[in-house]
Amino acid sequence: MHLQSLQLRHFRNYNELLLKPGTGLNILVGENAQGKSNVLEAIYLLATSKSLRASRDSEMIQNSAGMAAVGAEVIREREGEISLEMAVLPSEKKTVRINGMKRARVIDLLGQLNAVFFGALDLGIVTAEPSIRRRYLNLEISQISPKYCFDLARFKKTLEQRNRLLRDLRDRPYRDGSLDAWNEQLFRFGAPLLEKRRFFVERLSPLAEKIHRDLSDGRETLEIRYLPGVPLPEGGDLLAIDRAFREEIERVGEEEIRRGMTLVGPQRDDLQFLINGADARLFGSQGQQRTVVLSLKLAEFRLMEEYVGEPPVMLLDDVMSDLDDLRKAHLLGWMQRRCQTFLTCTSLRDFPEEILADSHIYHISAGTVLPEGTHANSVLNGS
Ligand SMILES: Nc1ncnc2c1ncn2[C@@H]1O[C@H](COP(=O)(O)OP(=O)(O)OP(=O)(O)O)[C@@H](O)[C@H]1O
Ligand SMILES: [Mg+2]
Repeated sequence: MHLQSLQLRHFRNYNELLLKPGTGLNILVGENAQGKSNVLEAIYLLATSKSLRASRDSEMIQNSAGMAAVGAEVIREREGEISLEMAVLPSEKKTVRINGMKRARVIDLLGQLNAVFFGALDLGIVTAEPSIRRRYLNLEISQISPKYCFDLARFKKTLEQRNRLLRDLRDRPYRDGSLDAWNEQLFRFGAPLLEKRRFFVERLSPLAEKIHRDLSDGRETLEIRYLPGVPLPEGGDLLAIDRAFREEIERVGEEEIRRGMTLVGPQRDDLQFLINGADARLFGSQGQQRTVVLSLKLAEFRLMEEYVGEPPVMLLDDVMSDLDDLRKAHLLGWMQRRCQTFLTCTSLRDFPEEILADSHIYHISAGTVLPEGTHANSVLNGS
C-alpha cells in the first residue's frame, strides 16, 4: 500500500502542506527543528489514531489555530483508493472521515493504513520500563486488530474502576458483591489482550531472530520472550487463558483488598530480549540494543505484510546516523524492496548515489517543503 498524497492543515509547524510522495523511498532532508518528524507523525496518526509523542492531542494543533487536519489518499492493492481524514480539536476530541463519510468512532481508522515507525526513541523498547514495551505491543497489535484496541480501552477503564473499588473495600469493614461484576469485566476484556499479545510475540520472534542473526553476521542469537502478568498455561486457548486469569485473581483476592490495587493481569505484562542468552536491557551494549530494535522493526514489517497481504508504509525517523555500515547497508537494501518509505535525515551523505537517483527528495525548511530538486545538488555537495 502507499500514500498517493498527504495533506496537512495547521498541523504542528505546517500551515498548509500538500505532498505527492513517490511509491519508493522518500527522503525528507533538512536542518533540526524544521518539521521533518512532524510529517512522519502525521502519517502515523492516520495509521494508529495516536500521536507518536504528544501526550495531549491538542499539542499537534498549530499555535493559535482552531484545529489541525491531516488527510491522505491511500492506494491499497485490493481495495483501491481510500481517502482518510482526521481532525484534531482543542477539546482533545478527534473526528475521522473515511472516503468522505464521517465515522462515529476514531478506531474505525485502524487497519485502513498500516505503517511501521522506527525512530531514536524506540531504543526505549529495550532499555526503558515495562510500560513502554506494553505501549509498543498496544500500538502494533491495534493496527492489525481493531478489536484489540477496543478491548484495551475497556480494560483500562475497568482496571481504574476496580482499583478504586479495591481501595474502597480496604477502608470499609464490610463486603458486598460489587467486586464480582468488575471481575467479570476484567476477564472479558483482559483475557483477549493476553491472548493477542502472546500470539503476536510468538509470530514476531522467529522473524526478528532471523533478521538479528543476519544483522550481526551470525555472531548473535536473539530471543524474545513474552512475560505475561498472569501465569499462562502452555499453548492454551482463550478459554484456558480466561480460566488462568480467574484462578490468579481468586488466589490474590485478599491481598488485592489489603493493598487496594489489582495485582495480576495484562497491566503487568512485559517483554524480554535475550542476546546469546543474556538480558539485553541489563547486559547489552548500546549497539546490540539498537540492533535488537532494528530487528524488531523489520520483523514487524514482515509480520504486518503477511497479515494485511501487502507491505505497510515504512517511517524511518533519523535512524541512519546511529547505525554502523553493516546495519546501514542492510536497511538500505530493505528500502530497495518496493515499499513506500519516508525517511528523515539532516544530510544526504549516508546515501549511495544509486539510491538517491531512485528516491524522491524533499527539502524541508520551517514548515515548508521546497520543490523537488531545488536544493538537491547543493546538499549533495555538502554546501
Ligand atoms: N503545535 C505546534 N505549533 C507550531 N509549531 C510547532 C508545534 N509543535 C511543534 N512545532 C515546531 O515544529 C518544529 C519541530 O519539528 P520536527 O520535530 O518535525 O523537527 P525535525 O525537522 O524533525 O527536527 P530534528 O532534526 O531536530 O529532529 C519545532 O520548530 C517546533 O517548534
Ligand atoms: Mg526529527
